[in-house]
Amino acid sequence: MDIRRLEPSDIPLIQHANLENLPENYFMKYYLYHALSWPQLSYVAVDVSRPKKSPYDYPKIVGYVLAKMEEEPTDGIQHGHITSLSVMRTHRRLGIAEKLMRQSQLAMVETFGAQYVSLHVRVSNKAAIHLYTKTLGFDQDKTESAYYADGEDAFSMRLDLTSIR
Ligand code: ACO
Repeated sequence: MDIRRLEPSDIPLIQHANLENLPENYFMKYYLYHALSWPQLSYVAVDVSRPKKSPYDYPKIVGYVLAKMEEEPTDGIQHGHITSLSVMRTHRRLGIAEKLMRQSQLAMVETFGAQYVSLHVRVSNKAAIHLYTKTLGFDQDKTESAYYADGEDAFSMRLDLTSIR
């Protein structure tokens, strides 16, 4: 498995993975906005074991993290935000999401001096909540009522990044 920075040419495959894995979907231009504004922060996991059948064959992207810096932080503190993270079903529980998140978090600190990273997650999403709280050490900040379009609440989470400076 190869973890590398997201390139604009990956965007159609990332959009496909996002549609497969999550109900929160975005227009192509929103992915491009991330890739052009903060190219250091978004990563993909590529299955390099899959043989390339022709020069026009696409890489098999099995996971991605789409991340950004908060442009006008209300608290005045430089921080990153995870817009979306997902791993294809066939490749889950192999540590891919953890690697993607750690790469992005490091780049937030090294490139932009981020003090912390934030995200939202559905209160029912046990796998992601385990990843964020138990594996990565995020704290649950607050619950945002009916945050999602279908009415589900979100946990707002954050991870202090000052210790990885
Ligand atoms: N139930 C309980 N724990 C789980 C599960 C699960 N279904 N899946 C993974 N974990 C645990 C692992 O055991 C591991 O724990 P450990 O460090 O204690 O050993 C930890 O989570 C990290 O596991 P990874 O293998 O790195 O996670 P994976 O690559 O499988 O990806 C993810 C996890 C991203 C949540 C995946 O299940 C997925 O894509 N789900 C659908 C999309 C999704 O929910 N994305 C997050 C939405 S929130 C947002 O985007 C900001």
